[in-house]
Amino acid sequence: MQRRVFLAATSAGLFAPALLHAQERVVSLYSSRHYDADKQIHEAFTQASGIRVRVIEANADQLIERIRAEGANSPADVFLTVDASRLARAAELGLTQPYASAVIDGRIPEALRDPAGHWFAASTRARVFMYDKAKGVPAGLARYEDLADPKFHGQVAVRSSGNGYNVALASSYLSANGAEATESWARGIAGNLSRPPSGGDRDQIRAMMAGQGSIAVSNTYYLGLMSISQQAEEREMAPRVGVIFPNQGDRGTHVNVSGAAMVKTSPNRDSAKAFLEYLTTPAAQRVFALGNMEFPAVPEAEVHPFLLALGSFKPEPPDGPKMLANAPEALRLMQRGGWR
Ligand SMILES: [Fe+2]
Repeated sequence: MQRRVFLAATSAGLFAPALLHAQERVVSLYSSRHYDADKQIHEAFTQASGIRVRVIEANADQLIERIRAEGANSPADVFLTVDASRLARAAELGLTQPYASAVIDGRIPEALRDPAGHWFAASTRARVFMYDKAKGVPAGLARYEDLADPKFHGQVAVRSSGNGYNVALASSYLSANGAEATESWARGIAGNLSRPPSGGDRDQIRAMMAGQGSIAVSNTYYLGLMSISQQAEEREMAPRVGVIFPNQGDRGTHVNVSGAAMVKTSPNRDSAKAFLEYLTTPAAQRVFALGNMEFPAVPEAEVHPFLLALGSFKPEPPDGPKMLANAPEALRLMQRGGWR
């Protein structure tokens, strides 16, 4: 079959490249996910479907701007990113369309799907406290609120307020506690820092384990990735780090999602739908879970033993539209509180 297509194409002379191109099925993926494991998902999808994945990588806001600027001519089929508020923003700007898939609705729990059907989560991650097991659980540390307690002066390692993970956390805090409390929380955290905010979550874990404070704030998957790292030093450190899931007695631990949406102007809707559905298959869920150490969105999917060993926890259901609405004010309050 392939041979016949090839012969027909070459006998068409000058038009051969165009003909060949017409035969090829492609999905253009605009992705802000910065993980090595994603390549495995793209390759496995191509093997299973014959559809090539063309990836454009940038941060979520840049991708949203790009889809907007490209307008009706955008080659984008799928938007994949790591923050429910970014997915909600793309939907609010009219850049996405409902995916309409019984497969996805059947596999992904309702709490992890946009009620209007514009996006769904493929995986989740929790924003937790980490501590040095050798030193024990910092006494009195159980809620995000506690990070601002003066008794933790000089103890907290956390990245900058402008980081999306922290903005999402502060947005959830703002929903729960209001503006005044959020600003004084940020002020308390700024006063409790063990070092000026710099680097990513893993840098906070390393700093804390090196004695710069006793509490690191990090997403779960970073510790998970350390446990399977190529670097012996990280592999050796990971089991020595303890994890506290905050706010188990009230609203639950803040979780955010990795999720996907079909772009409104998608030129390859069938391929886009196939790709979106592929993200919910056992094969793809396995890569999210075992390759990138996230919590798979499909409840039956396997969770990595390292993460399972952290125990089960009560998550706060991620509310994309609310996080989106709160984000600008949350960031303003954090900065006003002096959290750089
Ligand atoms: Fe990350």
